[in-house]
Amino acid sequence: MPANWTRLKDHRAAQGDARISDLFDADSDRATGFSVSADDLVLDYSKTMIDAKARDLLIELAVGADVEARREAMFSGEKINETEGRAVLHTALRNLSGSVTVDGQDVMPAVRATHDRMSRFADQVRSGAYKGQGGKITDIVNIGIGGSDLGPLMAVLALAPYHDGPRAHFVSNVDGADIADTLAGLNPETTLVIVASKTFTTIETMTNARTARDWMATRVAEPAAQFAALSSAVDRTAEFGIDDSRVFGFEDWVGGRYSVWGPIGLSLMIAVGPRGFDRFLAGGAAMDAHFRQAPLAQNLPVMLALTGIWHHQICGYPTRAVLPYDNRLMRLPAYLQQLEMESNGKRVATDGGDLAVVSGPVVWGEPGTNGQHAFYQLIHQGTMPVPCEFILAARGHEDDLGHHHILLAANCLAQSEALMRGRNLDEARALMQAKGLEGAELDRQARHRVFPGNRPSTTLLIQQLTPFALGQIVALYEHRVFVEGMILGINSFDQWGVELGKELALKVEPLLTGQEAPGHDPSTLRLASLFRAMRG
Ligand code: F6P
Repeated sequence: MPANWTRLKDHRAAQGDARISDLFDADSDRATGFSVSADDLVLDYSKTMIDAKARDLLIELAVGADVEARREAMFSGEKINETEGRAVLHTALRNLSGSVTVDGQDVMPAVRATHDRMSRFADQVRSGAYKGQGGKITDIVNIGIGGSDLGPLMAVLALAPYHDGPRAHFVSNVDGADIADTLAGLNPETTLVIVASKTFTTIETMTNARTARDWMATRVAEPAAQFAALSSAVDRTAEFGIDDSRVFGFEDWVGGRYSVWGPIGLSLMIAVGPRGFDRFLAGGAAMDAHFRQAPLAQNLPVMLALTGIWHHQICGYPTRAVLPYDNRLMRLPAYLQQLEMESNGKRVATDGGDLAVVSGPVVWGEPGTNGQHAFYQLIHQGTMPVPCEFILAARGHEDDLGHHHILLAANCLAQSEALMRGRNLDEARALMQAKGLEGAELDRQARHRVFPGNRPSTTLLIQQLTPFALGQIVALYEHRVFVEGMILGINSFDQWGVELGKELALKVEPLLTGQEAPGHDPSTLRLASLFRAMRG
């Protein structure tokens, strides 16, 4: 365990019963001093127990983890994903003017060529130059899962005000309900199916793709002509029957959960147009530039990462909630769940030894204000503090509904204030007294109305949820995860933990159709037999 870890824990212990509000009392500039900005994004982390000493120690932790040198190793194409022997270059997909060398070759000409082909195809789909059997494409269906689904889905929802292309649908689950419900309202003759799979072997995606092809074949003479593929395995896309002109490839140095910036973003590009997509890339590239250049203490991804380390590792809070006060960011928490938990949910360190600290936190959330009427009860009065990460835009897109936006923002700011401030017993008693309660009943009722407060949160304030701003936000979180991973000593870019379940699913499948399958435990055998019996 790094020496600073112990010093940070000692410092936290020395803070004792001090409250966040005490830090504001002691420092009238705290609100500005404990916030950091990149372009027009502002991260306020003043409503935490990070004080000047904690911040210094956290930054020393980042320095000790060699964050700056390893950051450059990533951007310059070194093979920092060492368990897979790969470079990590999703950043190359959004900085199209650059040049990056992998295995002695500049990868950027191919990146630019694919980006140009995607843009031309997206324009053709949007204009009607590319047609389905029944004419202009009205609907696109992206079939993919994990990183081949969550990124474009999250972004298409987020950028609804910029969506002027065909309707976009997403099928991910192998549950037939997903594809059945999606295809139910669509016309095969005017639908384009996009099969998004880096490996082109993922069982859910390939099962759904074959079902979609059968559905298309009921009404379309040449179903494969209305399919496109996004993959690193172009040999397999040909086997599926998709013409190379509609195959958009990418290299193995783009991780699944980091892939929305390239071909996996095709559905987003068709929805908002190549120009809108390029603004999204530009936002990501702007965050990259900030991440590379800003000193650690003024570096937004670094400070967001250090806030995470502080809460999870030093304070011991096991989860964190992402709470966008923006309904169109409704899938951002799910997107970040994959990004953060698939990246940093690991127990073996990069050196092959056991992780000396706990692995990354559980990440969850919902947009405000809906969450307030669901799980905020626990956040305010549960026994375990949940660090909250609020996201708020200064402007919505509904100019005629400005009063909604003010109310939304008031709720967001009120929540972080309430979490920090709380309500003590005297205040709760005074409230109850005003309502006419007295004696033992007053005491009993007042206790239920106490809020302990002192609950930490950060707030990310943006101007408006534009394609550029979304790019900034996604890249911010990507780099945050990378920095946290470096400090924990984790390779954030592999995901071996998803393999065992996939392998066993293939071995369990025969059990469910009554075939012999050795090597299963008694509980699994009994459940499989009950399952068969219930199906009749
Ligand atoms: O579940 C693991 C995973 O490999 C993710 O990392 C990935 O995003 C997803 O499956 C989909 O993989 P593919 O794009 O190869 O179908």
